Amino acid sequence: MSPPRASRPRVVVVGMGRLGGALALALAAKRWPVRVLARSEDGRRRAVELGLRLASESDVAQARVCLLCVPDKAVPLAAEELKPRLSRGAALVHCAGALSLEALGAPRGRVLGSFHPLVAVSDPRDSLAGNSVALSTRSRWLREVLERMAKDAGLRALRVPEKHRAAYHAGAVLSAGGVVAALSAAVEAFRVAGISEEDALAALLPLTRSALRGVEARGLAAGYTGPIARGDSGVVAAHLAALPPVAGEVYRPLSRRGVQLVGHRLPPEARAALEKLLDSETPRRR
Ligand SMILES: NC(=O)c1ccc[n+]([C@@H]2O[C@H](COP(=O)([O-])OP(=O)(O)OC[C@H]3O[C@@H](n4cnc5c(N)ncnc54)[C@H](OP(=O)(O)O)[C@@H]3O)[C@@H](O)[C@H]2O)c1
Repeated sequence: MSPPRASRPRVVVVGMGRLGGALALALAAKRWPVRVLARSEDGRRRAVELGLRLASESDVAQARVCLLCVPDKAVPLAAEELKPRLSRGAALVHCAGALSLEALGAPRGRVLGSFHPLVAVSDPRDSLAGNSVALSTRSRWLREVLERMAKDAGLRALRVPEKHRAAYHAGAVLSAGGVVAALSAAVEAFRVAGISEEDALAALLPLTRSALRGVEARGLAAGYTGPIARGDSGVVAAHLAALPPVAGEVYRPLSRRGVQLVGHRLPPEARAALEKLLDSETPRRR
């Protein structure tokens, strides 16, 4: 079979969950010939309610790209089940950031790829636009198709070499779940000050957003603020003494990272004092 033009080939999205629904909607909006293959009655109903078209067996056989939007652990089995139903020239693509292309099984001449949007999708109606997507494939034509798909969904394409996939995914997890985990330690610290979780989040979320805006405008080092950026070890010592141990465990490595980020612009004695403090035992809370 001749390779498809890198335009808008027929796509089957497998799994009508959060990402499958969002991707199918984004592609359908840009006139991609997209069909949804849903295992459950619920999935089929959701697809129809969203105006998506369900895949018949002949749609599956005619698809040029098959996007697996199933839970990570279901990817290997779903790939094996689909291979005999797809044409030999159809590409098989998963959307899992943590999985390598090996999760799709031995290629045996089939083009494989992955398409991992760096966005938290909690509902199929969530927009993907404005985020990035990590692409991986050894095939030039599939890369062009996936780049087109990314562009049409408003996603910025990022190529990730397979051998560094775990590092890439760790970075993605740090920037999403890692930030939420840091925020939960901040809420814990506010609790010590007698502030409820609701009030803490109402105050802290805008603060976090303002910090992110600073990074967006000026980059990591220039956007970093607080006592570490000011080289103020007295304030940091007071924080370490005041924090409950669980929150202190989070504060310490994040502060060390801050020293690495801005240490070059601190007076050497201020930097040394911070490093000593952050490597020392936590003083007892009074
Ligand atoms: N959600 C996100 O923010 C996000 C972001 C980036 C990447 N991803 C990746 O996208 C993939 C799907 O994630 P999701 O969040 O969309 O999951 P999800 O909402 O749980 O949807 C997965 C869908 O897969 C189908 N399914 C469930 N178990 C299955 C099985 N054992 N075999 C085959 N199909 C099964 C179901 O759809 P049917 O009943 O319709 O078949 C289910 O709705 C994962 O690889 C995930 O890592 C997700």
